[in-house]
Amino acid sequence: MSQNIIPEFHQILHGGDYNPDQWQKYPEILEADIRLMKLSGCNTFSMGIFAWSATEPEEGHFTLNWLDTIMDRFAKEGLKAILATPSGSKPAWMSLKYPEIRRVDRNGVREPHRSRHNHCWSSPIYREKVRVINTVLAKRYGSHPALGLWHVSNEYGGECMCELCIAEFHRWLERKYGTLDNLNHAWWSAFWNHTFSDWKQIHPAEFSLEGLMLDWVRFNNWQIADYFQWEARPLREFSPGIPVTTNFMGTHPTIDYSSLASLVDVVADDQYPGYDCEDPELFRRAIGVNFKADLYRSFKPGKPWFLMESCPDSPQYKRPCRIKPKFIHQLEMLQALGAGAEGVCYFQWRKNRGGLEKFHGAVVDHEGSEKGRIFQSVCETGKKLASLTPILGSTVPRASVAVVFDWDAMLGLSLSDITRNKTYEQIALDHYQPYIEAGVSVDVISSERDFSGYKVLILPQLFLLKPGVAARIRAFVEQGGIAIATHYTGIVNETNLCLLGGWPGDGLRQVFGIWNEETDELPEGKQRAIVTVNRWRKKLPHTAHAVHLCAQIHLEGAEALAHYDDGFYKGGAALTRHSLGEGAAYYFAAQMPLDFLRAFHAVVMDEAEVTPILSKPVPTGVLVQKRTKDNQAFLFLSNFTNELVEVALGDKGWTPLTPIGMKGQKVILPAFGSAVLEQK
Ligand code: GLA
Ligand code: ZN
Repeated sequence: MSQNIIPEFHQILHGGDYNPDQWQKYPEILEADIRLMKLSGCNTFSMGIFAWSATEPEEGHFTLNWLDTIMDRFAKEGLKAILATPSGSKPAWMSLKYPEIRRVDRNGVREPHRSRHNHCWSSPIYREKVRVINTVLAKRYGSHPALGLWHVSNEYGGECMCELCIAEFHRWLERKYGTLDNLNHAWWSAFWNHTFSDWKQIHPAEFSLEGLMLDWVRFNNWQIADYFQWEARPLREFSPGIPVTTNFMGTHPTIDYSSLASLVDVVADDQYPGYDCEDPELFRRAIGVNFKADLYRSFKPGKPWFLMESCPDSPQYKRPCRIKPKFIHQLEMLQALGAGAEGVCYFQWRKNRGGLEKFHGAVVDHEGSEKGRIFQSVCETGKKLASLTPILGSTVPRASVAVVFDWDAMLGLSLSDITRNKTYEQIALDHYQPYIEAGVSVDVISSERDFSGYKVLILPQLFLLKPGVAARIRAFVEQGGIAIATHYTGIVNETNLCLLGGWPGDGLRQVFGIWNEETDELPEGKQRAIVTVNRWRKKLPHTAHAVHLCAQIHLEGAEALAHYDDGFYKGGAALTRHSLGEGAAYYFAAQMPLDFLRAFHAVVMDEAEVTPILSKPVPTGVLVQKRTKDNQAFLFLSNFTNELVEVALGDKGWTPLTPIGMKGQKVILPAFGSAVLEQK
């Protein structure tokens, strides 16, 4: 059984970013906060995220009385603190005294002191200052009864091209490649006369070598990982047993969270779904959010993750900035819990009085009392969460379907400037959506994870192949799995060099039984007619229209399921199937619309005997999620439509954990309503 995020704290974490450091001149507000916290049903608060000047106003002079008072008060009131290290924003005195801690941009210009999230990753001075303040915090609060979790820095990201970071990059490259000859080959540096004869000649702002750009991003990820470990060291030393986390940012294109996740004790994500109940695409958006949640829970299978930041209202920078109804707020919270989260917290507890985010949605408004609509919405959510404590310790069981979402593949594709992109995640979503609509659970994993045990493996645009991945896909299919790949699969190796000998490369050509020679990118709005072959018309739509990408393939053992039906490549295969060993490998040459994908994946579910969570069909727009522990199961149902729906459960023994109407074995979900049921 999984452990709770905060050991021995048997509550679903609910609270938010709290900035008492900004309100020190307002003791009445600090007092009001405690009263409101208790009223709101919140129990956990992140503190000190940007409070370095409040804790070390002058070099080596620490002022922590204000934090002592709050920590003691939290302990007395049974509230938990998620204490942050303050490195996300450096104090002005430090920036001015030690200019090297400020970042240098791609043009070689050092930033003035400003904003946040912009310290140099390599500066020994900043590292030392961080070590000192983290040690002070860890020694002082490491065994404080209010301390629940360490929150390292905030949303690590960004790059620094100062001399120190570039020198570090050179050392990293030397470790990776050993010789310049290896590097020149791996980057194809002869292109445009870029052959390097000294490591020092390599500048990360160079944009004509994609291999270099890819390695710079990887190096940057290494810097983030290294920094995290540096920051965590004193915390782990002086407060053993207190878990350490840092907040991630969804599918940020340049931060490979699938590898960073192994360093944190608890995976934490910041998600601002910002659902609009009048949006006709609401369910698609919800599926997009679910995709990220499935990715996050799949980082550490069998362990809970944590929604560190969300918003009970709207972030003020969202355009349009809609105000949030409480039913949408609750849908967002329950969706995260249904996907295996054990905490749902907000940015932010109280609206700041000034500064860039003073209008950002918060639990407590500038008005200051409990009368506010959002405060009431949080109270109601708090009550709901309290009734859901039985789910603690449960997690989402391993799925039988996996979608591969791979940061290297996404980066390789976007750096290669080959399509009008942004489509990597969208195409993955297109193939994920039919399963979620059918109420089937899906793991979202990187290409480095073990594929065995899955029945269906979906590889949307696995553009870049790391060593060994193709062989594992082959073994997966030969042993009876169903693999589904699309256009732009297996095009480059791990340093973004084209795989020679025909795509999909590295042996996948034989697995899929096709050769993908080239890819036609259709203009915006243009479609390409597709016709299904007779034999497959019982299962797939007779005709359809492809959009955006139409790869041109040759059959080399695979059978065509559908062909292009217009244009000069009319008659070419658009979708294929290849039997191999005990399994089968499908290849989407054409980018197909959702209706077609729904029909296709229904065929796959049938072929692979994938079973949905519920045995009865799920109404359109309803999300079904399941968590389990020991002999217990918990069902989460969320209605993303503006109509009342009835969900047939199919089997008996489900009892509601939250108040909801039932008609026999059917749950009545009001418009935008949600329900959690338990089965023992
Ligand atoms: C991020 C940051 C927070 C805050 C919010 C606003 O998630 O971590 O400090 O700026 O955005 O939405
Ligand atoms: Zn630097």
